[in-house]
Amino acid sequence: MPRPQPLQDFLDVALPAMRARAHDGNSPASLQAISEAVLAVGQTGAGPASLPVVDALLDRALAREMDYGDLAELLQAVRALAPLLCWRRRTGDAGASANFAENHANAMLLGPGGIEERRDLWIGLSLIAPQTRYPDHQHAPEETYLVLSPGSFRKPGRDWFQPGIGGSFFVPPNAVHAMRAEEEPLFALWALRV
Ligand SMILES: [Fe+2]
Repeated sequence: MPRPQPLQDFLDVALPAMRARAHDGNSPASLQAISEAVLAVGQTGAGPASLPVVDALLDRALAREMDYGDLAELLQAVRALAPLLCWRRRTGDAGASANFAENHANAMLLGPGGIEERRDLWIGLSLIAPQTRYPDHQHAPEETYLVLSPGSFRKPGRDWFQPGIGGSFFVPPNAVHAMRAEEEPLFALWALRV
C-alpha cells in the first residue's frame, strides 16, 4: 500500500524541521537514520480515532503563531493529516497528575499501532491539556523531541526545563523522562530510533 499523501507531506516537512534543530546528544545521527528508514513504506495501520481532549484542544495547538516558516509549515501539515490521526491514551501513572487520563492524547503516526504500522521506528505526537503532568516513562529506543508549544520537560541530569517553541532535546535509551503542561496546551513531536 502506498503511504497516504498527507503522511508523506508531513514527513517531508517534519524530519527536516527536526534535523535543523537537533543539537543534543545523539539526535543528529538518530534523525539521520530515521530519515533514511522512512524511505521504505510500512504497512497500513490504525484508522482514525479521536478523544475529547483532542476535540477540545488540537485546533488551538495547531493555530499557534510560529516565528519560523518551517514550523508553521509543520503545523499546517499536521492540520492536513489530522483526519487520519489515531489518538490514544497511554497507561501508567508514575508521577502523573490526577487529571492525566482525561487530559492527554498520543497519536502514533509511524510505528507500533501507528497509522503506518512498522517496528523499526516510532514517530508521533503528544497533546496535553493545561495543568497536566505526564507520567515518568522510559523505553528502549532513543528519542528526539521537537517541542511545538510552551511546556516543561524532565530527563536525567536536568531538573524541569522549558525547551520553548522549536526546542529540541535527546532522551537516551531507557532514560526516565516526563513532560508537564502549564497555562497552555503542550504539543510535541517525537521520533524514536529502534
Ligand atoms: Fe518518550
